Amino acid sequence: MNPAARRRPLGVVTRGTTNPNRLRRVDNWIVATCADLLSTADDPLVVDLGYGANPVTAVELRARLAAKVRPDVRLVGLEIDPARVAAAASAADPPGLTFARGGFELAGLRPVLVRAFNVLRQYDESEVPDAWRTMTAALAPGGVLVEGTCDELGRLASWLLIDADGPRTLTLAAKLTTLGSPAELAERLPKALIHHNVPGEPVHALIRALDDAWQAAAPYATFGPRQRWLRAVTHLRETGWPILNNPTRWRQGELTLPWPHPHP
Ligand SMILES: C[S@@+](CC[C@H](N)C(=O)[O-])C[C@H]1O[C@@H](n2cnc3c(N)ncnc32)[C@H](O)[C@@H]1O
Repeated sequence: MNPAARRRPLGVVTRGTTNPNRLRRVDNWIVATCADLLSTADDPLVVDLGYGANPVTAVELRARLAAKVRPDVRLVGLEIDPARVAAAASAADPPGLTFARGGFELAGLRPVLVRAFNVLRQYDESEVPDAWRTMTAALAPGGVLVEGTCDELGRLASWLLIDADGPRTLTLAAKLTTLGSPAELAERLPKALIHHNVPGEPVHALIRALDDAWQAAAPYATFGPRQRWLRAVTHLRETGWPILNNPTRWRQGELTLPWPHPHP
């Protein structure tokens, strides 16, 4: 066993709020964009860090990955709160789904992918870089961390893809049928960005540009919110924002771009 597994888990117990299907947007994005990484991994080990008061979102991630990426995926839900580890025991389905106590050090595991959602939002921003470094140092070679935030029901979400060199991409995602304006996403930014939604900061420029594009695309609302979002994202691309992926992803109400990125 890696010595990290014997140390005290790194981090603190925070509120355990969770909800069924709350993390569907990030899970679907992981399935679409991290499938190669998982499919080619010698050991398809995934960690869901900080699954909360009940393990429903860990159960869902394992099911999605097993059904859509590879059936032999192994998901370990790690929680720093021992009571939450005990409470999850009845949901375990070894070897594909297990639960254990652990923190940012990842309990000595070497996963190829870590999802840490709604965990860092309850920490101070100054603690984020160390938490990222600790988690990415524990990854298998080439592994990634997906770290982000969403609202209670998962209608608004955002996340960073992070590797050993730091953040690589930022994704914003919304349920388009209930989205009033993309500015609503500002309240659900990852901890590293949420306090930077102020003039002069790239994330402020991004949300402002997306919001402007959404307003300009109002006539497309006649054809439904997907068409309006597609138009807004296309406009961002045309004006120099390096939007990644393709319309299949955009249609889901997503937008991914390299991050950090200076605004055009
Ligand atoms: C708000 S819940 C998030 C639950 C679930 N991920 C979701 O998004 O619905 C945050 C959980 O993270 C756990 N947590 C906080 N810091 C942690 C750490 N360093 N390592 C493991 N778990 C941690 C807390 O104990 C809490 O149960």
